[in-house]
Amino acid sequence: MSVRRSVIIGTGSYLPQQVLTNADLAARIDTSDEWIQERTGIRRRHIAAAGEFTSDLGAEAARRALAAAGLTPNDIDLIVVATATPDQTFPAVATVIQHKLGMLHGVAFDVAAVCSGFLYALTVTDSLLQSGAHNRALVIGAETFSRLLDWEDRTTAVLFGDGAGAIVMEAQAQPGSTASDRGVLACRLHSDGRYNDLLHVDGGPGSTGTTGKLRMKGKEVFRHAVTNLSSVMGEVLEVASLTPADVAWVVPHQANLRILEATAKKLNLAPERVVVTVDSHANTSAASVPLALDVAVRDGRIQRGDLLLLEAMGGGFTWGAAAVRW
Ligand code: UT7
Repeated sequence: MSVRRSVIIGTGSYLPQQVLTNADLAARIDTSDEWIQERTGIRRRHIAAAGEFTSDLGAEAARRALAAAGLTPNDIDLIVVATATPDQTFPAVATVIQHKLGMLHGVAFDVAAVCSGFLYALTVTDSLLQSGAHNRALVIGAETFSRLLDWEDRTTAVLFGDGAGAIVMEAQAQPGSTASDRGVLACRLHSDGRYNDLLHVDGGPGSTGTTGKLRMKGKEVFRHAVTNLSSVMGEVLEVASLTPADVAWVVPHQANLRILEATAKKLNLAPERVVVTVDSHANTSAASVPLALDVAVRDGRIQRGDLLLLEAMGGGFTWGAAAVRW
């Protein structure tokens, strides 16, 4: 019996040119390169230029993913963008990117789940491809998180950066075995609205009429992140009838190196199996998973047949994971 699965056939990413190092930050606020590296693993981050918007970052990542797949925008019938930093309150960034790619057909919309956004976008897209409603999709995580930061607040300003990552997903008939099929084998999402106060933006179009700034109680978020991520990673493996020993690469949301290491340890996954980009990208929210994926695909670490475990946790709280065979 064959099943319809969503296979990733191309990846791409884009980082703005301007690099902001820990030393640059230490010259502006009361922090140090040593503290940032020791507590987070971050060394530098990229910052979008004035006039460079989330849709610009996302469109460039999408062009690169299409080129990697050997396709043009004409071959795509769905665009799903995960972002918490849209160019405008509306319309969706996805429709802006649709226009920038010159597409006059198809469907484009955004999903909002902050740092888990890419896992949410991937899961929604997987359902739409499996249902037969669509055949080929661009799934994009794109953020200009630097614009949500209070640059006077050292507890958050040092943690985030800007960037975008994209994948092309195609519905393909596969034999129907999670032990060998390519594509998305299982995904699981969760949310719990009780924790708004621990990680949120203190403004919005429907409340203050302003964009607001990011506020986070980092220590508490850290604790929830390790618990929730290890739990959903275990859950998704169980749904796919797989075990941690089957995992070739963990491609995680890049919030903090200590979270990546603690989460992998809980599942008995060797740290060498975890793709780490937090050192050079910092936390790019919804862009971090597809950015890390593109890095590990292009440098040759990820090979055909490898089982990947994608995971993320963010504001809401929201969290999720996906098991994908390359
Ligand atoms: O993507 C969404 C999910 N987000 C996350 O997963 C973030 C999760 N949280 C974290 O990554 C960490 O909790 C942080 C990196 C945010 C903070 O690390 P921590 O080890 O939990 O430090 P802390 O908040 O307990 O702060 C320790 C000390 C404090 O000083 P006192 O009270 O001990 O005197 C802070 O004021 O470090 C101080 N501190 C800083 N010092 C220098 C906080 N930020 C800085 C800074 N530079 N930038």
